[in-house]
Amino acid sequence: MQDPLEQIESNVRGYARLFPAVFHKAVGSTITDTEGNDFIDFFCGAGSLNYGHNNRQAKAALLRYIQADGIQHSLDTVTAAKVDFLEAFERIILKPRGLDYRVQFTGPTGTNAVEAAVKLARKQTQRSHVVAFTNAYHGHSLGALALTGNQFYHSQFYGSHNNVTHLPFDGYMGDYDTSLLLEKMLDDPSSGLPKPAAVILETIQGEGGVNVSSATWLQRVASLCQQHGIHLIVDDIQVGNGRSGKFFSFEHAGVTPDIVCVSKSIGSGMPMSIVLIRPEIDVWKPGEHTGTFRGNNLAFVSARAVLEYWNDPSFEQQIEDRSQIIQKQLRAICAKHSDHSLSVRGRGLIWGLDMHCGDLASQTIRNAFNAGLLIEGAGASDEVLKVMPALTIETSLLQEGLQILESAVDAAINSAASRRSQTHTTVKQNVC
Ligand SMILES: Cc1ncc(COP(=O)(O)O)c(C=O)c1O
Repeated sequence: MQDPLEQIESNVRGYARLFPAVFHKAVGSTITDTEGNDFIDFFCGAGSLNYGHNNRQAKAALLRYIQADGIQHSLDTVTAAKVDFLEAFERIILKPRGLDYRVQFTGPTGTNAVEAAVKLARKQTQRSHVVAFTNAYHGHSLGALALTGNQFYHSQFYGSHNNVTHLPFDGYMGDYDTSLLLEKMLDDPSSGLPKPAAVILETIQGEGGVNVSSATWLQRVASLCQQHGIHLIVDDIQVGNGRSGKFFSFEHAGVTPDIVCVSKSIGSGMPMSIVLIRPEIDVWKPGEHTGTFRGNNLAFVSARAVLEYWNDPSFEQQIEDRSQIIQKQLRAICAKHSDHSLSVRGRGLIWGLDMHCGDLASQTIRNAFNAGLLIEGAGASDEVLKVMPALTIETSLLQEGLQILESAVDAAINSAASRRSQTHTTVKQNVC
């Protein structure tokens, strides 16, 4: 399909190229274009739609709220919708997990939450250095960009690398435990690493290629932070809100970060971000970090509605059941194509099928799109297919989507094989 916005919208548009359709309606895990084509959604608004498109409970609450002329915009004044959300968040999410955090509302994007978290850690410790990790993705405003690994997003002219050191994430150096390197660098006064204000990490790197850190690595990093008086910031923007199988992705490891960034699915499709702060380090002066859109009451209303899922004791098991279905099918795809050494990793409902080749993954994404499935790539060269359906997807739709994915992989591998056999007799090309 021709891109109708080519002449109007900036060249920066990205997903419009990946999914060449004009989308129109969506319910649950199905999204429909203006030509009436349905797509199964394994993309999930890059992790913003964990509860599905137009989630029924959120939609009903929003309709009621708008119908009653509820406040829409409020900066950080107190509104009934905000009080409702905060009370429920504390009762349903924080208290049962034994977590004691203050909640800061930031501007509505993930990168806004990261900026606030890092600023607060710097202000409170009176140190400016931050440790981030290889393949990290924390957003694109200049502060957050400095923490983001992939060179594709950088330009030397942004001047954004100040005061950040990237160290190897878990698994980056094969079996070597990279927390030992962090330990050595922190212990050695001659390592060249200034004592950081914070260590920031994603427990599962989403954009970075679905890299899953182990519980022991996280525990070691958390205890190093504690020993050295460094704040541990967990960026749970993509893998929080149940994506990892539990509400917070760090619950599996039993660590308690000093600061947590939450965004994307918290508002169930409505823009909203929060930073959770250990009370002792909440040293902001009133109004010191502001933003016009910290008071999006429509987001408070939909966020409040979907918190109810976490009142259901069977919800985590439902996520796990879907997780098992995905793992099984992805492992079967790998076994079928054993000569291509594909690999699988993930947890909860974020899974990566590593094709070890960006071209092959791109071809698979195109094949999937043409057959009615939305899925995106991740990793340094987009070589990992990120399988990220809604937590609420019906199992039959999940299986249907996985079947489309399998056929898309088969077709991409077969066409690469046939191109390879042709190039043996013609000109050599880069076909992986
Ligand atoms: C882990 C993580 N942090 C931060 C961000 C940035 O969020 P936003 O795009 O809303 O600014 C993202 C976005 O994908 C993310 O995955």
